[in-house]
Amino acid sequence: MSGTAVEKALPVDIGAVTKFAEDGISEDFTDRDFFVIRHQGCLFAASTVCPHMENTLSRDPEDPTRITCSGHGSVFDGEGVVMVGPASTGLTRLGITVNKDGHAIVDPNKQFTQDKWTDKGCYIEVE
Ligand code: FES
Repeated sequence: MSGTAVEKALPVDIGAVTKFAEDGISEDFTDRDFFVIRHQGCLFAASTVCPHMENTLSRDPEDPTRITCSGHGSVFDGEGVVMVGPASTGLTRLGITVNKDGHAIVDPNKQFTQDKWTDKGCYIEVE
């Protein structure tokens, strides 16, 4: 065998979908490199890697409804849309599904850039 094996990230069970009862940005899984965001009837996982130059993002300590980048100051709203550059595109979303137990499962191997945000597989509809 030759070549280098590409290490795949394991899917992450983030718990019951009902746990995410209110809109907001959760940092509970930033150690796995994603935020969990509930926004206007959708639950999704967004990468903590900035789409500008890959610095690590965090929730804005002064406004927890927003995400900021320490690299060059980009700001993203509660949907992951750019409010302030230099980033020119929104946050990358990850694959997410619901299992038979009603838990949301995030698959970091599936990535959706902003032009793919309407694709099934990168969000869960919630009530
Ligand atoms: S790396 Fe995030 S703004 Fe540049």
